[in-house]
Amino acid sequence: EQKDRQILLEAHEYAAKFYHYLLLNTEFGRGANQYLRDRGMSDKLINQFMLGYAPDRWDTLVNFLQKRGYDLALMEKGGLVSAKSDGSGYVDRFRDRIMFPIWDKDGKVIAFAGRVLGDAQPKYLNSSDSMLFHKSSTLYNLHQARPSIRKSRTVVLFEGYMDVIKAWSAGVRNGVASMGTAFTDDHVERIRRNADEVIVCYDGDDAGQAAAMKTIPMFEKAGLKVKVAAIPGRKDPDEYISEYGPQSFLREVIDSPLTVTKFRLLFLRKSHKLLEEEGRKNYVLEGVRIIAELDSATEREFYLRELSGEFGISLDTLKQDCHDILLSRQKVRGGGDNNDNSWNNGRNES
Ligand code: UTP
Ligand code: MN
Ligand code: MN
Ligand code: MN
Ligand code: MN
Repeated sequence: EQKDRQILLEAHEYAAKFYHYLLLNTEFGRGANQYLRDRGMSDKLINQFMLGYAPDRWDTLVNFLQKRGYDLALMEKGGLVSAKSDGSGYVDRFRDRIMFPIWDKDGKVIAFAGRVLGDAQPKYLNSSDSMLFHKSSTLYNLHQARPSIRKSRTVVLFEGYMDVIKAWSAGVRNGVASMGTAFTDDHVERIRRNADEVIVCYDGDDAGQAAAMKTIPMFEKAGLKVKVAAIPGRKDPDEYISEYGPQSFLREVIDSPLTVTKFRLLFLRKSHKLLEEEGRKNYVLEGVRIIAELDSATEREFYLRELSGEFGISLDTLKQDCHDILLSRQKVRGGGDNNDNSWNNGRNES
């Protein structure tokens, strides 16, 4: 098992270099190269992230690995090649795709993501989980971002590979992304080990914003500070940088993140029909519930004041509602804890 791991790591390293070479130095890679240039990728970035190209053939990597004496059955277990369904051999898993090597935290290539050049589905194909690669705990770019993360104690979390790469070129050196699948507690734990604060910079579309809403409480539960770098419009970070440039991305997005409360209120706002009376009322009522979660009275007043300004409900009224919510929570809490705390209550009174 340990030996197999070693061999698979070596094969992944070779494959990454091979794909990279094919992209930059062969006729096969010409279209992919152009595609990347069109998306604003420089030589420097392509090298830094060792991007590659898997040609539109069934046997490019299979032949490459076979010639070097690798056991294809093992390569298949490692997710580098696929077994033919009739059992008669192996074929390339990645064909006609831009190849993104995925590294572990120590910088060893453990998997690949491959992107189609056009609009075909799936857009990204990832290596399957293997003895090297566990999707649910891997963070893309952690190995390169770690020094900067440790220094700033801050992680910037993106949705996609391209976002991490483009942000890197804009100067964001502490950016990582999960592997497209759901964000997990393993991811949180990995971040917590290196940082105290997370800036969530997901796509500006509905899916991205909803994903951010789900991810934020996971960080809060782990005791991490969270902020949200929101992209105006429905763009993702990569698109934003292409359109408005790196300076604007740093200034307007990364360096001016929203508090989690502000983000929650904005999200709430977007999900209500504010042209309707019912929508406005519910927005305000649910907004107060969000604000009531805050521990400090100053913070609560800060957001209640903003909310009060929006539809002209007086601050006093909102405070009253907020107060009622807090009271009813205390009652629930007090009721549940009565027995456990009886000794403590007694002591406080004496
Ligand atoms: P997006 O659809 O936002 O893609 O998915 P993207 O990162 O902007 O990619 P480009 O700019 O079109 O190239 C976000 C992330 O979800 C995962 C990938 O990790 C992707 O970066 N994903 C998406 C998949 O794994 N498979 C897919 O088919 C699509
Ligand atoms: Mn393992
Ligand atoms: Mn997206
Ligand atoms: Mn995106
Ligand atoms: Mn994108």
